[in-house]
Amino acid sequence: MAGAGGVSRSRVEKAGVVGAGVMGSGIAEVLAAAGVDVMIVDEAPGKAAAALEQIASRQRARAAAGKVSAETVEKLLARIEPVETLGRLAGADLVVEAIVERLEPKRQLIETLEKIVGPDAIIATNTSSLSVTAIASAASRPQRIAGYHFFNPVPAMKLVEVISGAHTAPEVEHALVALAARFGHRPVIAADTPGFIVNHAGRAFGTEALAMLREGVAPVDDIDAILRDAAGFRMGPFELMDLTGLDVSHPVMESIYNQFYQDPRYRPSVLAARRVEAGLLGRKTKRGFYDHGDGRPISPAGPVEPASAEAALPGRVTVLADNEASGLQALVDSCAADRTSDGDHLILIGLEGEDVAGAAVRLGLPASLCVGFDPFFGIDRHVTLVASAATSDRTREAALSLVRRAGRKATMVEDSCGAVCQRVIAMIVNIGSEIVEQKIASAPDLDAAVRLGLGYPLGPLEWGDKIGPKRVLRILDTIYDRTRDPRYRASLWLRRRAELGLSLQ
Ligand SMILES: NC(=O)c1ccc[n+]([C@@H]2O[C@H](COP(=O)([O-])OP(=O)(O)OC[C@H]3O[C@@H](n4cnc5c(N)ncnc54)[C@H](O)[C@@H]3O)[C@@H](O)[C@H]2O)c1
Repeated sequence: MAGAGGVSRSRVEKAGVVGAGVMGSGIAEVLAAAGVDVMIVDEAPGKAAAALEQIASRQRARAAAGKVSAETVEKLLARIEPVETLGRLAGADLVVEAIVERLEPKRQLIETLEKIVGPDAIIATNTSSLSVTAIASAASRPQRIAGYHFFNPVPAMKLVEVISGAHTAPEVEHALVALAARFGHRPVIAADTPGFIVNHAGRAFGTEALAMLREGVAPVDDIDAILRDAAGFRMGPFELMDLTGLDVSHPVMESIYNQFYQDPRYRPSVLAARRVEAGLLGRKTKRGFYDHGDGRPISPAGPVEPASAEAALPGRVTVLADNEASGLQALVDSCAADRTSDGDHLILIGLEGEDVAGAAVRLGLPASLCVGFDPFFGIDRHVTLVASAATSDRTREAALSLVRRAGRKATMVEDSCGAVCQRVIAMIVNIGSEIVEQKIASAPDLDAAVRLGLGYPLGPLEWGDKIGPKRVLRILDTIYDRTRDPRYRASLWLRRRAELGLSLQ
């Protein structure tokens, strides 16, 4: 790890960046901020000089806003030199390539660079989806080649994945880890596997949301709102796909799925494929899951919400949930005085991976009177209520009205195993557990990468421990039993730790 042997010999003082696009210019900026002299080069004439101008205007704006001194900015800018030929990189200790994301051009570039730089120089690739080993396969010194995967925008996203290929020397990894500390990014060590850490760990959020949309659980804006309010994501999955552009996110979903030999855990959605064909890409085409003209969702019509504020409250309410999930009972009790004794009976069932249909039948209850709820996410803010195909309209209205009368937001979704948040978060924990089991990342690196790279409120393993490993396992096993879909099979690592009562972190 950082500070281990070999670091001083590989200390980076002079670097080159090839590719002066979005990523290359950001990488040059952070390297220069760390005191490294950087040459930046691009095959398009004038592009490197233009990149320096952009860095200069960004940095000078920061100085004008008082975030940094003008002197510091001018020193940083003086360390970046745009050059027009690769030959100028001869004396570099490190060259980072951030050219087009295609294997052949990257392999050719590395072959060329190896003839220019010294034998001890490190050549790093910023690839986000290609194998580092494959990029290094034509190299004469593959031990000096590694992945250095930054996130956009580079100066703001304080994370970098360090990836060793099959032949990468340990001191190369150490040197890149040590360098990251100098520019203030958290380095995480990732195995050379599809999506590395962040693009692998982030699979569940979008694919599970698309699965719910396809199953008709709820419209996009309801799924987004529940995941924001009840689980604490900054942005809902459909908002995020619209921001990234489905032309980018759907191919990433397909690529990771195919690179893992069609493991159902990563299965993308035919819904997304059709939307790409239709040009409903997101903000860039003004229409995606939302219409970016008026902000309204464009999706198959969801269930029509009853005007529940005026609807009759139920006369009798039974809450069926274990003690730890008694929050809804208190909420129900808080509006007991408003209820009339002649109202209907409402049965609220706390779901733990189950759907309402299954729970009602298992418990021998009249399904028309049953509504499920998510006892673990959102009881104090945004309650997810779940109706089965047999739940009567009066029962739906009564449940919504009751929760809203108690001062909470409430959304009624159609039957879904584990409501909305449970299935998304259980799958995030499950995929995170696979990442640790396969030694793609250490537990602390995984959690840090997910918080910093994806902006989730917690890392997958922190989340698993917060909910409780046994409960996460129960949720997954229940969804798996009910759906018979191997997508939901629990990671053995998670199962064993849950059974042994061990923490996931
Ligand atoms: N954009 C992102 O969010 C992001 C995030 C992480 C990693 N990446 C990876 O970073 C790399 C660059 O992505 P980007 O978004 O900056 O692309 P970009 O299109 O903005 O920039 C690429 C630059 O490389 C130049 N270029 C292409 N082939 C070249 C060659 N053979 N020699 C020299 N210059 C060449 C192009 O002229 C262009 O200026 C890709 O591998 C990409 O997968 C991108």
